[in-house]
Amino acid sequence: MDVTIKDRVAAEFAQVDEVIVSMLQSDVEMVESIGHHIVQAGGKRMRPLLVLLSAQALGGIEPSHIQFAAVVEFIHTATLLHDDVVDLSTLRRGRPTANAAFGNAPSVLVGDFIYTRAFQLMVQLNHMPLLAHMAETTNTIAAGEVMQLVHAGDPDTQADQYQEIIRRKTAALFAAACHGAALLHNADSTIAATMHDYGMNLGIAFQLADDLLDYAGDPSLTGKNIGDDLSEGKITLPLLHALKVGDANDRRIVAEALRTKNGDAFAEVMAVVQRTGGLEATRDAAMKHQQQATAALGPLNTSPARDALHQMANQAVDRLG
Ligand code: IPE
Ligand code: IPE
Ligand code: MG
Ligand code: MG
Repeated sequence: MDVTIKDRVAAEFAQVDEVIVSMLQSDVEMVESIGHHIVQAGGKRMRPLLVLLSAQALGGIEPSHIQFAAVVEFIHTATLLHDDVVDLSTLRRGRPTANAAFGNAPSVLVGDFIYTRAFQLMVQLNHMPLLAHMAETTNTIAAGEVMQLVHAGDPDTQADQYQEIIRRKTAALFAAACHGAALLHNADSTIAATMHDYGMNLGIAFQLADDLLDYAGDPSLTGKNIGDDLSEGKITLPLLHALKVGDANDRRIVAEALRTKNGDAFAEVMAVVQRTGGLEATRDAAMKHQQQATAALGPLNTSPARDALHQMANQAVDRLG
């Protein structure tokens, strides 16, 4: 994360962290131990940063934005706890996942605690349009994860179905972070839509980059293992591209590995992805959405905060090197 962006909102960012830590408090010890396990490992905190920068670009950061930024990070954290159980993942933020360290049941239940804590915090904000938007968003995320599960192991999944999955499971929360910041400013609907559009495209670019890094990333940088997606039979753009342009043998290798969720076929599948240009195609698609995110900001007044939002979009893709 570029230090200069965080520096712009350093004081408010520290306040968000305070809210996060204090709201993890519970009289049930397991909630705190698992909560701290995942929260203290850090994470990029991109979503709360987007709330703060969006608020700044629209006129200033209010106390409600601080609280909302913590809400968005809580929702994200809850989805990670659940996602790692579903994906059988063992490494997150450079340390064992909560499911690896504590087990599946504790991860799911503490995920529920954090999800519901987010809604308690939102009720305190007493802003019905925001609450309605976040209820809708969390439901969309859940539907996206279910949709992904339904398609696991299915090599006939289509590109538009994949696009819809990543829009829901990931980009919807990025969009809500930016849109919600506008709602808390009681911005007009055009501005709210602008922020939504920006966040949605940034989120899609970000997930495309994540899907590329699942094949070509460096675990010491991403803090996650490579190959998780193939082991789960998850079809992502590198594979969709290989299935589209590869020859019959390429298609057979990829389809078979997906159907059998065969992580051991990683090297063979990776060779097909490289041969067919799947990594480049995924990077190109991510860059297209990054540019759409930047273009969406056009109606906003020029400001240092708007420039920082530009930079945030660039970073979603820059991490691809
Ligand atoms: C991980 O999100 C889940 C995806 C949407 C790919 P991040 O990469 O933002 O996770 P942290 O919070 O930085 O660990
Ligand atoms: C994003 O998908 C998960 C959520 C939005 C919950 P991934 O499954 O690709 O995320 P990582 O790779 O585990 O972080
Ligand atoms: Mg996952
Ligand atoms: Mg991933």
